[in-house]
Amino acid sequence: MSNLVIPLYNARELGRKIAIKSDKQLAEVEVRKFPDREIYFRVDSEVKGNDIFLVQSGYPGPNHSIMEVLLAADSCKDFGAKSITLVMSYLPYARQDERFKEGEAFSLQTISRLFQNAGITKLITVDAHNRHDYTESDLFGLKHLNISAGKIIVEHIMEKHKLKNVFILSPDFGASNMVKEAATAKGAEFGALSKVRKGDFEVEMEGELDVKGKNVIILDDIISTGSTMILAMQKVKKAGAAKIFCAATHGIFGWDSLEKLRKKSDGVISTDSIVNDAESITLANEISKVI
Ligand code: R5P
Repeated sequence: MSNLVIPLYNARELGRKIAIKSDKQLAEVEVRKFPDREIYFRVDSEVKGNDIFLVQSGYPGPNHSIMEVLLAADSCKDFGAKSITLVMSYLPYARQDERFKEGEAFSLQTISRLFQNAGITKLITVDAHNRHDYTESDLFGLKHLNISAGKIIVEHIMEKHKLKNVFILSPDFGASNMVKEAATAKGAEFGALSKVRKGDFEVEMEGELDVKGKNVIILDDIISTGSTMILAMQKVKKAGAAKIFCAATHGIFGWDSLEKLRKKSDGVISTDSIVNDAESITLANEISKVI
């Protein structure tokens, strides 16, 4: 076998599923923390000459997750891996994808450089923040393929709830490509609101919605504090929607947002990009198709 999937801590289950789906060998790894919280990493499978697929998620603990990737990739490079692909279902540090103010860190560029220095030759992500096309591109010198989970999320909700007359809503322009792709694939109507973030927990939204009597799926890349979804839901309710579902690829669900969203909607759905308590759809099939 010349393909080895190495599951890292936040993606232990997803990594296992990807290995099964893609018919690759699943590596034995030991990952633990020293008492001072430094990470110990060891791979107990043959790396030499193999194409390596590291699988990780950037939440929880974005910093630890990145450090674990670097330790794993650099070790695989030393042990003679043929190639190292990183599957980072949720890519942290993607929000700072340019220098918005003088003196700021350009986090996404830094992350890309760190990955390349550690020997990673390709990065695969799912609905990475602000990446709007789903073909292979160049991320500051690193080959990058971003895929979308929009279609499988929408498919899951529509089938489970036997929904007709569906409208997919992007709560901001950032998610509108993802929404357009998913809606087009499923033959649903779609639209977007315009959002301005005023603070970590405060957003404002504008836009007209023609959703009276329609079943609305609000679809975003991330649910973090839930502020975006809660406000979008208020707008959709006011506009007379029938059922309302909140969905995102990456469910961080900080604070008590999951509970709040559950109370106010007909369902909250995310994927196993991040392990959480919401209803979850696995990304294993979609990822397996591209590795
Ligand atoms: C930002 O532009 C993203 O697409 C999400 O809308 C955002 O991360 C959601 O964050 P929150 O749940 O904190 O409103």
